[in-house]
Parts: sequence; C-alpha cells; structure tokens
Amino acid sequence: MLPRKTRKACLSFCSAKHDIIALCSDLVTALIAIYPGSFDPITFGHLDIIKRGSHLFDRVIVAVLRNPNKNPLFTMEERMLQILEATQHLNNVDVDTFTGLTVTYAHLKHAQVLIRGLRAVSDFELELQMAHTNKTLANDIETVFLSTSNEFSFLSSSVVREIARFGGEIGHLVTPEVAIALRQKFQPQ
Ligand code: PNS
Repeated sequence: MLPRKTRKACLSFCSAKHDIIALCSDLVTALIAIYPGSFDPITFGHLDIIKRGSHLFDRVIVAVLRNPNKNPLFTMEERMLQILEATQHLNNVDVDTFTGLTVTYAHLKHAQVLIRGLRAVSDFELELQMAHTNKTLANDIETVFLSTSNEFSFLSSSVVREIARFGGEIGHLVTPEVAIALRQKFQPQ
C-alpha cells in the first residue's frame, strides 16, 4: 500500500492528466472507451477486461460510479487507488470517478465506446437492457461487450467479498494489495 501522501499526489496527478489528455483528444481522433462500474473491489475478471480493452482502444478510462444508493465496502479513494495500482503497467489506462449517467460522463470525456464484460448468459439480460437504455440516451455511443476469459467466468466483486468475509483464500481472485485490504476490512476487532 502506498503512503497516504503519495496516494493523494497520485490522485491529483491523475486528475490533471485527464484534463490534458481530454484536451489532446479534441485535436486527434482517438478512440476512447469508458469501462464503468462499482469495482468494490477490482478483481482479476475486471483486470482481464481492462487489459484486453487497452489493446483495442487508444485510451480506456476505468470510471468508478459514485452511487448514493449503494453502501460500498471500500471508499471511493480506496477503490481508485486499488485500480491505479493494478493498472499502472498499462500506459493507455486511466482511472476516474463519476456521478450520474454513464453516457453524460462519456460525452464529457469525448468517449465513443462503453466497455462491459459478459461472464455468462445470466449477465446478458441486464447488460443488454443497459446497452439499449444507453443507446436511447446517446445514439453516438456504442456499448462493446467483451466476454470474460473462462477462468474468471464465476468471478464477481461480491463473490470475493463473501469469501474474504469468511476468511477464505482470495489470492487467485484479486491483486495482493486488494487481498491485504480485504483481510484488513474483515479482521476481527
Ligand atoms: O459494476 P456494476 O455495478 O455492474 O456497474 C453498473 C454501472 C455503473 C455500469 C451502471 O449502474 C451505470 O451505468 N450506472 C450509471 C447510471 C446510468 O447511466 N444509468 C443508465 C443506464 S442503465
């Protein structure tokens, strides 16, 4: 885990970097994709989608939704730093937070694509509904579905939280930093 001062510096650096990159995107037609979600916490399944998305698009923004209706396990700052740490080797991936509609945020960032991962048929119904809804809100933004790699088809943040809550092994599901953070959250006081 990075020291608190470094974490704060990282976050303000990211936000400045966003503004500069957004400005440059106006000048060249870069293909920008938003990968929205709760990421509470980020898992190897998410990372698989981010990595593959980063090969397909010029820039991928992992956008963490600030959702007033949810009570997440990790704070927004914790989740953003976990994602930053996990994606630092991917040069064209940024991390940000947003509130409100995903398509509004996508317009703000000059993005043309929303990325969503599909694990199983059970995901499909909700994801298709979401993609259709977003299309009615913003016809210029396309949703691209990436099928999650087989080894992560069972994996979700809620599964990881559940295993961690009962002291199970999570090292094969999340990064070491996230695993440590989960163990700390569920440590008996
Ligand atoms: O990780 P999640 O919880 O599956 O992500 C869901 C998310 C954040 C992609 C979705 O809830 C969302 O886009 N929320 C923002 C509100 C919005 O745009 N709603 C219209 C589309 S249904």
